[in-house]
Amino acid sequence: MEEHEWWKDAVVYQIYPRSFQDSNGDGVGDLQGILRRLDYIAELGANVIWLCPIYASPNEDNGYDISDYQKIQPDFGTMEDFECLLREAHKRGIRIILDLAVNHTSDEHRWFAHSRADRGNPCRDYYIWREGRGGGPPNNWNSWFGGSAWQYDAPSGMYYLHIFSPKQPDLNWDNPAVRESVFQMMTWWLDKGVDGFRMDVISLISKPETLPDGPGGDLSPFCINGPHVHAYLQEMNERVLSRFDIMTVGECPGVTVEEAKKYAGFSRGELNMVFQFEHTSTTDGPYGKWSDRRVWLPDLKKIFFHWQNGLKGAAWNCLFWGNHDQPRAVSKFGDEREEYRARSAKMLATCLYLMQGTVFLYQGEELGMTNAAFDSLGDYRDIETRNAYRDLVGGGCVTHDEMMRYIHRVSRDNARTPMQWDASPNAGFTTGTPWIGVNPNYKEINAQQEQSDDRSVLSYYKRLLRFRRENAIVRDGDFMPFWPEHDKILGYTRSLNGDTLYVLCNFTDERMPLLEIDTHGRYLETVFCNYEEPGPWALRPFEARVYLVRA
Ligand code: GLC
Repeated sequence: MEEHEWWKDAVVYQIYPRSFQDSNGDGVGDLQGILRRLDYIAELGANVIWLCPIYASPNEDNGYDISDYQKIQPDFGTMEDFECLLREAHKRGIRIILDLAVNHTSDEHRWFAHSRADRGNPCRDYYIWREGRGGGPPNNWNSWFGGSAWQYDAPSGMYYLHIFSPKQPDLNWDNPAVRESVFQMMTWWLDKGVDGFRMDVISLISKPETLPDGPGGDLSPFCINGPHVHAYLQEMNERVLSRFDIMTVGECPGVTVEEAKKYAGFSRGELNMVFQFEHTSTTDGPYGKWSDRRVWLPDLKKIFFHWQNGLKGAAWNCLFWGNHDQPRAVSKFGDEREEYRARSAKMLATCLYLMQGTVFLYQGEELGMTNAAFDSLGDYRDIETRNAYRDLVGGGCVTHDEMMRYIHRVSRDNARTPMQWDASPNAGFTTGTPWIGVNPNYKEINAQQEQSDDRSVLSYYKRLLRFRRENAIVRDGDFMPFWPEHDKILGYTRSLNGDTLYVLCNFTDERMPLLEIDTHGRYLETVFCNYEEPGPWALRPFEARVYLVRA
């Protein structure tokens, strides 16, 4: 039975702590900095914060390599800072969900230190160790961060599996002691009062016992949605999640609608929601994400319509354009040229956030922040970007110039440049030297300027999110594609109790004539538009128009 749990109404604001707000001038964002900005988040209309990892980490992958799940990364502050942040957020009606990265740990985690120490150690089996094959690794799997997915360990003469960096060894979820340790740690955080988890690459946790070679070294067919993943999540739900009133969302690369219904089906007893990545993968090319393809709207429409219809009554959608692994939404899906940036950013928000599902918006999206095109590879910090450059340029697949073009379009660092608070040096992010460069456009695009401008992207987001809160049709209305075959306009309707909402979005810089809408003589009320001046019966460049016809 589908119920109306609080997380279905949530607007989640994702914070990448390193890049959000520095409070002590060391150039790295921190918990005190977030505390200072809680009112900003509340005023925006978000009621949940997803905090990217804040745990102790050697920072091989900016905190997604955890060396102690129960300690705060010293750069970010102390456990007291965290407790204070949680208290202050709760006072403002904001819940906090943490990032649970338990497919792997850091190689500096004590479990791995023990595991590596000797073959007989009780922790040995916490990770995935195998003998080599013919003088090389146990199978042909490639790491998602480049190179083999196996690292040789000389003292024991064996290899361990790492889907990501060698400094991120994969945990062995088949070992009940691993599950027990993870469940205890989760319970410890929930007892502290956190409101749930975003679960990092959770669809990868179960590997097949036999570890077969993959096509072209691809481990995905075996490790994505592996043999016991649902059993492990059901166990997690029974042992931990079901005991608390929380939100859970699993990051599930490669997930289909059918699989999503297993992870997050209303009566499955696993997770509340999953992140799917079909819409963000529409620009992939021969080198995977490293491409400069533009989004083709018919692909995007097909994907969104499929997910809206596919999960209907069975599971709940996550609505997101970007996150810390994606380029900036407006740069990827909209148009970052000066004359269209703000308009297309507002259009994108209208298009997605009036669909059915829970909103996840990434810091700075509400300002229409753009990609940063740094000139030199040396300005990029991200391990994935640097390794891809090494492999693709070093391997002679693409030239330096091509690769820089791809990096400017899709590098994860596009999302990780500091939050643009104001026009003061370093965009008000830090008084020191930021750990990664600030986007030079911060003097024009920043929160302070947008707060005082009724026509800004920020002001538009506030109105849109308020509209969502106040109109049940956005949460509960039936979804129907409108004009599905149009290749420049994305349109749909939502209907509830005889009311119909029409959402029409022009994804181009051209003027688009509109279809007649048959309202059966009822009044067509414009409830949203990203142009201030009333429009003709056509959509202007990047226009989003929302009509309501009441019963
Ligand atoms: C997830 C995270 C990403 C990280 C990877 C490995 O995809 O979102 O940032 O690099 O997992 O933990």
